[in-house]
Amino acid sequence: MNMYEKGFPFMVKVKKDETVHICQCGHSQNPPYCDGSHSAHSVGEPLNYAAKNDETLYVCGCGKTDNAPMCDGSHNR
Ligand code: FES
Repeated sequence: MNMYEKGFPFMVKVKKDETVHICQCGHSQNPPYCDGSHSAHSVGEPLNYAAKNDETLYVCGCGKTDNAPMCDGSHNR
């Protein structure tokens, strides 16, 4: 599945001090996480997100956001 075929956000729970690698190229086969596919497409290094607290990220799964790679609610429009 393409990262943006989902059509709604991925919910990613992150623990304090944990780092997650979020795909920004859209080619990952394990969305929303980076699987290294960007190197074959010469686009979009992953976002290496280091959590300062336990938190939940909402990663865009539709490709319409203006706040990539995070959801900005554009999937509802
Ligand atoms: S899933 Fe893309 S803007 Fe919300």
